[in-house]
Amino acid sequence: MTKDNIRTIPDLRLSDPSRVLSRVAQIGSIGRTEDGGCSRLAFSEQDIEARDLVASWMRDLGMSVTSDAIGNLIGILPGASDVAPLVIGSHIDTVENGGKYDGVLGVLAGLEVAHLIVEEGRAPERPLWVIAFTNEEGSRFQPDLMGSAVFSGRLGLAEALRSKDSAGSTVEQELARHQIAGSFSIPETPLYGFLELHIEQGPVLEAEEISIGIVTGIQGFRWLQFNFEGEANHAGTTPMTFRHDASLGAAWLVNHIKVLTQTHDGLVGNVGDVRLTPSNINVIPGHARALVDLRHPEQGVLDNVVETLKIELKEAGQKLELGTTVKDVANGSVTQFDARLVDLIEDCANDLAIPSRRLVSGAAHDAQMIAGFAPTAMVFVPSRGGISHNPKEHTSDVHIREGISVLLTVARHLLFESDRNVP
Ligand code: HGY
Ligand code: MN
Ligand code: MN
Repeated sequence: MTKDNIRTIPDLRLSDPSRVLSRVAQIGSIGRTEDGGCSRLAFSEQDIEARDLVASWMRDLGMSVTSDAIGNLIGILPGASDVAPLVIGSHIDTVENGGKYDGVLGVLAGLEVAHLIVEEGRAPERPLWVIAFTNEEGSRFQPDLMGSAVFSGRLGLAEALRSKDSAGSTVEQELARHQIAGSFSIPETPLYGFLELHIEQGPVLEAEEISIGIVTGIQGFRWLQFNFEGEANHAGTTPMTFRHDASLGAAWLVNHIKVLTQTHDGLVGNVGDVRLTPSNINVIPGHARALVDLRHPEQGVLDNVVETLKIELKEAGQKLELGTTVKDVANGSVTQFDARLVDLIEDCANDLAIPSRRLVSGAAHDAQMIAGFAPTAMVFVPSRGGISHNPKEHTSDVHIREGISVLLTVARHLLFESDRNVP
């Protein structure tokens, strides 16, 4: 899959971005929050409404639309021959009060490529699938990247179906409630390639005034659930020396994660979900549950930090006189993308004279689960101020147009390989 001898299609820039821009706005209005963000947690009414809208756009384009057992939404544009497909995908679920580009831009970019291929009037040599993966964020049901992990066989379907949210609903119940699981299963032939366009969600491209990120891989992540068991008691009558206050365990953890990031170069850590029970102002919390997100570009460092942390937890529990448990809830290994696809993206960006640079993704993506299952690579576009998972998340129309132009050029090279004027 190299660019040698390929006749470069005259100016492949996306000439009119208005369709994709209006669709980003339309999806962004679903689950809109009062400060202009988006809340579309997996399997929420808002998530399903957005899926249905994307499915209707797929159908309007003449794609056949289906879904698999975990509810991944799959639009299929047939090819001249029924060989291994090129797949373009991402997600449309969001974090609580997130932005309107994270994931959505990648699904709509895939749909835009399909539109442009159809408008050209030539059947691609191989099928093109566009996928909106289920529950990429993992904010409500862990693990994250759930749809792409089941799709690629990295996560068993039964395990995914058992996942429970804090209210006790399971993924299985939510799939049944919304009737979105389907019978699609991947044929034996492996995928020809997987491409994902995504916002960078970091500061690098904007700082260097570069439009395209050629993503060479993704750092590893480990998600863990910590539990601290104390004793609920009266906040007024219980002497401080008699307390078994579970909130002190959560406080230790938050502080300790910070210390670990200061002593391990390149490690990032977050304690983004802490639940104290009972949560009453006048009750000493008997129980604390905290979810921790640790990431590092080197697998060995990441795994060592986690192992050390589990030992330090036991010591902290003894000191604080609290029971402690910890369990792994999600992980994504350090991932390298397909070198030939990465080169092709770079060649196409250069061909279009759009400034680009290589970089490793700090954020996890569905591509992390697909890599290793099929040749995979990603295209990044800049995030204003490097902000994401926040209503302020923004990517300019120009950058969206340039990102889709590169994605379209790469996709065309893979869908019309006989265009190569090989001597
Ligand atoms: O957590 C992540 O990195 C992604 O936004 N799901
Ligand atoms: Mn995302
Ligand atoms: Mn995200």
